[in-house]
Amino acid sequence: MSPRCFIVAIDGPAGAGKSTVSKLLARRLGFSLVDTGAIYRCVALMATDERIPYDDDARLGELLGRVHIHFQVVGEENRVFLGGKDVSGDIRSPEISMAASQVSGRPVVRAGLLQLQRRLALESSKGSILEGRDIGTVVFPDADAKFFLEANPEVRARRRFEELFQKGVESSLDDVLADQTKRDKDDSARAVAPLKAAEDAIRVDSSSLPLSEVVHSMEAEILRRMAAR
Ligand code: DC
Repeated sequence: MSPRCFIVAIDGPAGAGKSTVSKLLARRLGFSLVDTGAIYRCVALMATDERIPYDDDARLGELLGRVHIHFQVVGEENRVFLGGKDVSGDIRSPEISMAASQVSGRPVVRAGLLQLQRRLALESSKGSILEGRDIGTVVFPDADAKFFLEANPEVRARRRFEELFQKGVESSLDDVLADQTKRDKDDSARAVAPLKAAEDAIRVDSSSLPLSEVVHSMEAEILRRMAAR
């Protein structure tokens, strides 16, 4: 049996720079990229469209069987397709962000998405980068390289605000910070797979570092581990 592809886990709170860093690393290394937050967001979008309460485990469980997602790099972006439709913009609204935080707290949803996340990552022949909250602790505890990306709350909120602005989503910095504080609390306090760094993760604080520098040092570490594998 051939060994599985090289797996990189990048976990951390919202706005720590995971998406930007993951995208750049995937491009530089020729790896595929699995944005697991986008998967939870797709479930939240489907639940919202179908008016399913975010704590209705039976209906959420049924919905999971109908989640067909793929990612496609288009230009600079990692676009998300749900049932063949490009939902990259729809899943980033503040409403769906809150809904994603809620559905991701349901054990039925986390368990149901585990195999999907693993399958998407293992489809690559060379390697995959997974970004999320519990990649290094739950989805791939045996990942070849694990990083936990952090930054202080104000820096994270500003990054998220600018990202939303660029995508044409209207918001205010205060609202983004308030949403982020609530989501951080919920994501860290939930009983199943809370946001926390794996013991063997390399912690990277990007508060005062340009993301290009963060990418550079992470890439060097990944290349070192690939050579030693
Ligand atoms: O990274 P993001 O903001 O796109 O994630 C959306 C929500 O999904 C976030 O509130 C936490 C949740 N999530 C999770 O619980 N586990 C993951 N591996 C990824 C995201």
